[in-house]
Amino acid sequence: MTKTVVAQTYGTPEVLELVDIDLPAPKSGEVLVDVKAIGVNPFDFKLYSGAFGTDPEKLPIRLGGEAAGVVSAVGDGVTGVAVGDEVIVSPGNGLYAEQVVVPVSSITAKPAGISWEQAAGLLLVGGTAVDALDTIRVGSGDTVLIHGASGGVGAIAVQLAAARGATVIGTAGASNQDYVRSLGATPVLYGEGLEARVRELAPNGVDAAFDTAGTDEAVDTSLALVTDKSRIVTIVAFGRAQTDGFASVGGGNPASAEARLKARSELVEQAGSGHLTVKIAKTFPLADVALAHTELQSSHPAGKFILIP
Ligand SMILES: NC(=O)c1ccc[n+]([C@@H]2O[C@H](COP(=O)([O-])OP(=O)(O)OC[C@H]3O[C@@H](n4cnc5c(N)ncnc54)[C@H](OP(=O)(O)O)[C@@H]3O)[C@@H](O)[C@H]2O)c1
Repeated sequence: MTKTVVAQTYGTPEVLELVDIDLPAPKSGEVLVDVKAIGVNPFDFKLYSGAFGTDPEKLPIRLGGEAAGVVSAVGDGVTGVAVGDEVIVSPGNGLYAEQVVVPVSSITAKPAGISWEQAAGLLLVGGTAVDALDTIRVGSGDTVLIHGASGGVGAIAVQLAAARGATVIGTAGASNQDYVRSLGATPVLYGEGLEARVRELAPNGVDAAFDTAGTDEAVDTSLALVTDKSRIVTIVAFGRAQTDGFASVGGGNPASAEARLKARSELVEQAGSGHLTVKIAKTFPLADVALAHTELQSSHPAGKFILIP
C-alpha cells in the first residue's frame, strides 16, 4: 500500500484526498521509486478544476507530473538502473504519492549537487522552457521578451535564454522585479502600459517573445513588438495562438513531448554544474496538498512549490 492524492470529483482543492492504494510490484521495464519530493505545477489543479472538462469517466484523477526519489526495486529486463539510485521521474502521471511504479524511460539520474526539492522541480518547467525557446529559435544576439519571468517556467527560460547569449526582458509583478534581475533579465512590470515600458528598453521592438502568462495583454504586446510571428510562442493562450497565427507548445503535442525528453540530459547537466538554479518557494507535507494548490492559484512567492511525502 502507498498513500496517494486523488481528486474524487471536479472542483476546488478541497476535493483532494490522501488515500491508501495497492502498489503493484514493478513489471518488466518498470522501477519502484520511494518518493522524496514532488513538484507542484498549475497543470495539476487544471486536471480537476474543470479547465480541461469534467468527464465523469476520468474520475478519480491522480495528480503529479514530476518527482524525485530513490529506486527501491527494479522489474525484469531493467538495465542501467539499480536499487539505491537517486533519480528524477519526469514525465509522469499520478506522482503525488509516497511510492510510485514508473517506466524506466521516465527516470533520469539525479545530479548530486542539487537538493531533492530542486530535482523534483527541475524537469517539467525546464523541458517546457527549452521546447519554447527552441521553437522561437532564441540565440546569441537576440532580444527576447519573456512574460511571467518570475514564474516556474519563466525563471528557467530567463536563465537559459541569457546563457544562449540573448538579451532578456522579463515581465513580473512588483515584488519580483529584483528576482527577475538576479536571473539575468531586465525586469518590467506587467499591467497597463506594458508595451510602452518594453519599448523604452527596445525602441525597435524585440526579436522574439515567450508567453507563460496567457493574458491578452501578454499576447497583444508580443504581437505589437515582434515582426516575425513564428518567433512568438505561448504555453497557455492556445486559442489566441490559433486565431492570431503564432506558435504554441505543449498541450499534448507529440513534437513537444519528444523535445522535452531530449532536453532532460542538458537540464540535469546544467543544474548539476550550478549553471541553472531552481528556486524553491515553499514546501508542504503531502497531506497539505489542498493548501499548496490554493496558495499556488493566488499571489504567491516566486519559485517552485514542492510536496514532501
Ligand atoms: N503548455 C505547456 O506545456 C505548459 C507547461 C508548463 C506550464 N504551463 C502553464 O504555464 C503557466 C505558467 O506556469 P508556471 O509554472 O510558470 O506558473 P507560476 O510559477 O505560477 O508563474 C506564473 C507567472 O505569471 C505571472 N503573472 C501572474 N499574473 C500575471 C499577469 N496578469 N500578467 C502577466 N504575468 C502574470 C507571475 O508573476 P508574479 O508572480 O511576479 O506576479 C509569474 O511570473 C500555467 O498556466 C501553466 O499551466 C504550460
